[in-house]
Amino acid sequence: MDTILSIVGVSKTYASGHRALEPVDLDIARGEIFALLGPNGAGKTTLISIICGIVTPSTGTVTVLGHDAQKDFRSARRAIGLVPQELSVDMFETVLATVKFSRRLFGKGPNDAHIEQVLRDLSLWDKRDAKIRELSGGMKRRVLIAKALSHEPEILFLDEPTAGVDVALRRDMWKLVHKLRAAGTTIILTTHYIEEAEEMADRVGVIDKGRIILVERKAALMKKLGKRRMLIALQAPMTAVPADLAAWNLALEDEGATLLYTFDSENEDIPGLLAKLGTLGIGYRDLETHKSSLEDIFVDLVEQKDAA
Ligand SMILES: Nc1ncnc2c1ncn2[C@@H]1O[C@H](COP(=O)(O)OP(=O)(O)OP(=O)(O)O)[C@@H](O)[C@H]1O
Ligand SMILES: [Mg+2]
Repeated sequence: MDTILSIVGVSKTYASGHRALEPVDLDIARGEIFALLGPNGAGKTTLISIICGIVTPSTGTVTVLGHDAQKDFRSARRAIGLVPQELSVDMFETVLATVKFSRRLFGKGPNDAHIEQVLRDLSLWDKRDAKIRELSGGMKRRVLIAKALSHEPEILFLDEPTAGVDVALRRDMWKLVHKLRAAGTTIILTTHYIEEAEEMADRVGVIDKGRIILVERKAALMKKLGKRRMLIALQAPMTAVPADLAAWNLALEDEGATLLYTFDSENEDIPGLLAKLGTLGIGYRDLETHKSSLEDIFVDLVEQKDAA
């Protein structure tokens, strides 16, 4: 693998004594999209901040394109664009000035065509002369992304890119990420949402309580952990699951009023089940399907770990 970023033995204990990160070893390949999934407080922002040289690790080293992220901070940082989780922009500047200034900070010469393209990609071009404080929250997030892309970084970090943004921005984000990837940018994002990892990532790392529990290619992870459920609201309640339906993984809920079908991508057979319900004369009022959430996946992972 053509490694663009290498993390070796990186851990963090904050001055407060809080242990935020157990030692992490992780290599990121050039051009991949890596999603770091984990609940609040898992250590995602801590890890990203260490890679970007904002937080000092307690142990370990980070190498970005051959540069040590601490000893050779400026060279390492130049290769990186960071969209932080928290808003951090000068409210009184205009959008265009903010993004242009950000590019200069990284020692890059002016490139108005690039800046215009970035602002257009983020639907900010019409707002280029507006002051940041005049923008809505979602637009401010777009400005953070534009800033991070201003100096044409090879590696882009997105820390919770779609937390609290509307569907339109989420779609734009996903489109932009795919476009950047096609242009060869390596992308590392954090998220709470499995859907987001599913939509964008090549590889997924799951982090919980400062420990990376697993790192796997997305396809393998979804196959292994992506359980789905279908709730079938019955016209008449049942006392037991009929023996004729033993081929499907079924259970009764709501005092027999709902039939719960659990399956994964390997053994999904909704058409077969519905056809069988038809032949058995079992009527239903409503169907609802759910994908397992990250939360469910965590529970599964923790149970697996406890059982091992
Ligand atoms: N500057 C700090 N000083 C002390 N503790 C900190 C500091 N920053 C973060 N922590 C703690 O470290 C742990 C990990 O925090 P971190 O921000 O990395 O989590 P996260 O996975 O990004 O969470 P979220 O999903 O809420 O953004 C938390 O328990 C947090 O309270
Ligand atoms: Mg965070």
